[in-house]
Amino acid sequence: MSKTCMITGASRGIGRAIAISLSDRTDITNFILISRTEAGLEDTASQMNADKNIEISALDLTDYLATQELVQSVGQKYETIDMLINVAGYANPKSLLETSIDDWEETYSVNVHSIFNITKETVKYMKKTGGQILNVASTAGTSARPGWLAYASSKAAIISMSQTLSEELSDYGILVYCISPGRCATELRKVLAPDEDPSTIMQPEHVGEVVNQLLSNDGICLDGQNIVVRKQTVKAFQQQATKQII
Ligand SMILES: NC(=O)c1ccc[n+]([C@@H]2O[C@H](COP(=O)([O-])OP(=O)(O)OC[C@H]3O[C@@H](n4cnc5c(N)ncnc54)[C@H](OP(=O)(O)O)[C@@H]3O)[C@@H](O)[C@H]2O)c1
Repeated sequence: MSKTCMITGASRGIGRAIAISLSDRTDITNFILISRTEAGLEDTASQMNADKNIEISALDLTDYLATQELVQSVGQKYETIDMLINVAGYANPKSLLETSIDDWEETYSVNVHSIFNITKETVKYMKKTGGQILNVASTAGTSARPGWLAYASSKAAIISMSQTLSEELSDYGILVYCISPGRCATELRKVLAPDEDPSTIMQPEHVGEVVNQLLSNDGICLDGQNIVVRKQTVKAFQQQATKQII
């Protein structure tokens, strides 16, 4: 098999960890790494399995037309797109009265509208052969987060969107996954919790491992669900894996 996989938010953090983890798989040949920062994407590519065909695309996902053109060029070049991993996200935590309409729109542009846009364009190619879409939401999308109004509600939208798309796209053989990480040591987390010690929380590599597992055949019955990925979840997953090896 020689699958083609597009990953957004791949210049650092969780997106980078997912790209590195997936690059060890034998079923994926082509990777398209997307974010605005070329240097970060090149750094990610340099840490991936060197046998893979890796293309980087420095793109602002809120440029909807440019995103559509990128997907079209990928779809035409590789004939289908087998995996879309929507990781890119933005957070500017503020309360209701502190949030301007511009803040609100910026959050929804990156966290919701851009995912709608890239997913719609990708499905035009993916529906020929089936495939997998994985969206990164957040535990903030399912519980009250005073002071994070725009971010938390945008993540709730992604959880809902994933559930609907899971059913809507099943006719094409497309599985849609949604993961909601808890606290994970990245630049975005520093914006949300500047005083936290990053060494005490989940690392991006943990999320990368879970995504890799989900997108293997083991995750075939888990589409459509909002899968919470927390540090204790990762431990339990590792213990279970160890028991199976023993
Ligand atoms: N860290 C956590 O605790 C946590 C918890 C739950 C959910 N999440 C979610 O996990 C995802 C990844 O975040 P992270 O924690 O890994 O943060 P991060 O290290 O800050 O990464 C964010 C990524 O999004 C990209 N991005 C942001 N705006 C973009 C735009 N307009 N166009 C293209 N790319 C854009 C960034 O790349 P450029 O700057 O190069 O464009 C970067 O690659 C986000 O959706 C976040 O909401 C994180």
